[in-house]
Amino acid sequence: MHLLLIGSGGREHAIAWKLAQSDQVDRISVAPGNPGMVDEPKITPVDLAIDDIDALLEFARAQAIHLTIVGPEAPLVAGIVDAFTEQGLRIFGPCKAAAQLEGSKAFAKDFMSRHRIPTARYATFDDAAAARLWIERHGAPIVIKADGLAAGKGVVVAQDEEEAYAAVESMLSGQFGEAGNNLVIEEFLHGEEASFIAVVSGRDCLALASSQDHKARDEGDLGPNTGGMGAYSPAPIVTDAVHAHVMNDIVQPTINALVDDGMPFTGFLYVGLMIDDTGQARVVEYNVRLGDPETQPLMMRLKSDLLPLLDHAVDGTLPEAQVSWHAGSAIGIVMAAGEYPQGSSEGKRISGIERAEAARCKVFHAGTRRNGDQLETAGGRVLCVTATGDSLAEAKQLAEAGAACISWEGSRYRRDIGYRALRAATSEGPS
Ligand code: AMP
Ligand code: GLY
Repeated sequence: MHLLLIGSGGREHAIAWKLAQSDQVDRISVAPGNPGMVDEPKITPVDLAIDDIDALLEFARAQAIHLTIVGPEAPLVAGIVDAFTEQGLRIFGPCKAAAQLEGSKAFAKDFMSRHRIPTARYATFDDAAAARLWIERHGAPIVIKADGLAAGKGVVVAQDEEEAYAAVESMLSGQFGEAGNNLVIEEFLHGEEASFIAVVSGRDCLALASSQDHKARDEGDLGPNTGGMGAYSPAPIVTDAVHAHVMNDIVQPTINALVDDGMPFTGFLYVGLMIDDTGQARVVEYNVRLGDPETQPLMMRLKSDLLPLLDHAVDGTLPEAQVSWHAGSAIGIVMAAGEYPQGSSEGKRISGIERAEAARCKVFHAGTRRNGDQLETAGGRVLCVTATGDSLAEAKQLAEAGAACISWEGSRYRRDIGYRALRAATSEGPS
């Protein structure tokens, strides 16, 4: 079978790497892919842009693609699934209407409020004076969000009111283009975050293993928000009780409501959760795709074949799907440009990937390019160094040793990925 995967990041490298292990798969074309995929068996980057829906359609038809899988949110929000489905082509991902759960934070908040899905109190604004009044009334900390897509960067957790006003001014004055014409301002939620991702098909869903991402740039979860600086799976905060609560009170009501609202969801539904110290979870955000970098450790832990799972979801037979996971833990440490998230790195020589892979790591590419036989930086998040272990501590040690092998001028990475889970393991004592 020939598959088409859309995207070019570390997430797509990991999805393609996992799909390539399927006996059913002969070839995976990745549009546009990245240099890390070139040396992988069965994987071929193809020079098509993620937003060129007509060209992607034409490619899928001409190549008799068995299934197209969409990695990033932008083509989903633009309606790629509707376009493929209208032409009778099989594609894994939500339709345009359902993708608004990620494409518009105001839509997502109104949806949750209408369907009584637990989330932070909020209001939406397109006017600075009204926003200012709401901030004055509620005080800091408070969270300011651009309504539209902003590559994970359109959120400011303001520690004081001045910072909140500044965020409102800069978003409304065009920092994120049209994405910032409307703002959601919401109550700050206390607790610990976790990423809860399920494969969804109408009213059926199957949860993937839990994971947790570190969105802040700096160690200690400080500094500006990024697309994600590292992730690990499982996330011990998602106990069996929390899992049951999230499925019953959040995921199932969400997907049922989507069916009832006339926009049934097929694809990966990612629920970003804030879990308080009593185990109550509230939704921080919905994404309509896999997380990056959560996918990298998740794909390392996924034992069963990924393709039948996606096929079952598309065919409406998800209850027949079987999924199994490797025991132990996996971790992914993002190596980013020193300039990230404000800027990126271009043309810096990268060395040491082979040494990291010889030391039991898998290195997924994101912002890289080839210049002759030299690998160079070409982005904000450049690589994700991933490893598995019997414990999170072991996986972390391996991935950090791998990251230490790799360098380019100005690289940065966090050395504390997984610290919350490691602290929880230590405070429970030896078992
Ligand atoms: P989002 O893009 O909505 O996931 O927001 C990015 C990050 O900002 C989240 O992962 C949280 O770390 C933080 N955040 C967003 N909303 C809230 C909130 N209401 N309370 C506390 N932290 C938040
Ligand atoms: N890691 C967070 C995201 O993919 O949105």
